[in-house]
Amino acid sequence: MDKKFFVTTPIYYVNDVPHIGHTCTTVAADIIARYHKLLGEDVFFLTGTDEHGAKVAEEAKKANLSPQEFCDKVSKTFEDIWPKLNIKYDYFIRTTNPQHEKVVQELIQAIYDNGDIYKAKYEGLYCVGCERFYTEADLENGKCPLHPNKEIQRQSEDNYFFKLSKYVPLLIKAIEDPNDPNHYLISPSAKKEEVLSKLKAGVGDLSISRANVPWGIPIPWDNSQTIYVWFDALINYYSALKINKAEGFWPANLHLIGKEILWFHAVIWEAMLIAAGISVPKEVFAHSFYMIDRQKMSKSLGNVISPQDLINKFGVDGTRYLIASSFPRDGDSDVGLTRFTEKYNADLANGLGNLVARVAKLCENNNLQFPPIDLSIFRSIETNKILRSIDSFLREYKLNEALTVIWVAIKGLDAYLDRERPWELTSSEAKKRLGIIVHGSESVVSLLEIASAVEPFMPKIAEKIEKQFTGPKIKSEPPLFPRIK
Ligand code: MSP
Repeated sequence: MDKKFFVTTPIYYVNDVPHIGHTCTTVAADIIARYHKLLGEDVFFLTGTDEHGAKVAEEAKKANLSPQEFCDKVSKTFEDIWPKLNIKYDYFIRTTNPQHEKVVQELIQAIYDNGDIYKAKYEGLYCVGCERFYTEADLENGKCPLHPNKEIQRQSEDNYFFKLSKYVPLLIKAIEDPNDPNHYLISPSAKKEEVLSKLKAGVGDLSISRANVPWGIPIPWDNSQTIYVWFDALINYYSALKINKAEGFWPANLHLIGKEILWFHAVIWEAMLIAAGISVPKEVFAHSFYMIDRQKMSKSLGNVISPQDLINKFGVDGTRYLIASSFPRDGDSDVGLTRFTEKYNADLANGLGNLVARVAKLCENNNLQFPPIDLSIFRSIETNKILRSIDSFLREYKLNEALTVIWVAIKGLDAYLDRERPWELTSSEAKKRLGIIVHGSESVVSLLEIASAVEPFMPKIAEKIEKQFTGPKIKSEPPLFPRIK
């Protein structure tokens, strides 16, 4: 049986339309999913939208729509944009799907029956923007650090609490001890240390219900309360597989998320799963943020770049490349159209695009053919040395480093042609020499190796290169990446 690989993105709130922050995570997840497919694994790639809670209800009200109508409308903007970026997810989950709601109720009921949920009074601070509680110490100038424009709410109500504190020693052991049956990875390692030190500093129980947020899933044993939106949302990763009857994919191999939601994914989620007797995910990877002029992109700050703007300017694969090469793996990454345009022209128009045009022209002018070839040799780590050298980078989500390795091969082939100058040779000499160049391990073979290695990043471009160099006649084609001003 094929090795299974289950990768997820966060499910995005429908209070906002898609921007390149969301695109960053989803494109990265798609690249990872495609890479695992290339290696022959059976992949399930999940994304979707997070639709309950006070924040979404507020936005629906502003838009003069019922919450469900509002969710249907905005969720569709996410569902529609991903195929335009050639994102091949296997399922798009919505938390208002009744099948998801049923799984959430079953899971919370199981934890309640195990005795890990109790009722108590909650008094504290709540940020509707984050949909989470804060303590005074977390605030900056009395405001939520991520939503300085929003008022923080003071809440006091009877809630159901999950005994998160009980699981703290268990979680610490699960994170630290590779032999623990619940062991899971939190990466990059700095993020793991952050989580561990917070856990060791002590953690209280978690309020998991709301008395005054009707837009949510009812607590099964007490319909006067709804389930806290995060408790509901996290379960999507598990319910999606049940809905799809996708066997053998749990536990998830990778939850790819942004750093601001690490605590939910690396602590609360695992405690919930252990409490419900379900195994925990294998890895949670938290990336940093795309920033514009060192501010986080967000609707409230009005500095959002839409994925459609990028597609219009750079094309689908150009956009995917720019996102992957600026992936904020270890720290925030400043992005913007000027930077993207320079990078596009340097690496794609002048780099890969120009190289492909050069080799095609040489083959065309000298009427050279490449013998019929089984492309599978380029799609295997055993026989494609470029793939082999990017493997460890991709397994650590070092997307830019992987691209740098591929670009070393691109520059190497360019330099080889500069050295050989085959276009200066007489026709018969050229044929002889080019025959060697083409059939030797350089030019065309090398281009096909490059094509397979860029496939997860730029699937359409890879396909075009493969077609151009394996067809009955190698010809020049229009530029892969027209220069952009
Ligand atoms: N609904 C929750 C997630 C629930 S998952 C069970 C949520 N949604 S969100 O719409 O706010 O999306 C947050 C995620 O979007 C981040 O974790 C990150 O993956 C992505 N990004 C949003 N803005 C971003 C940047 N500026 N830069 C990079 N990614 C960011 O939180």
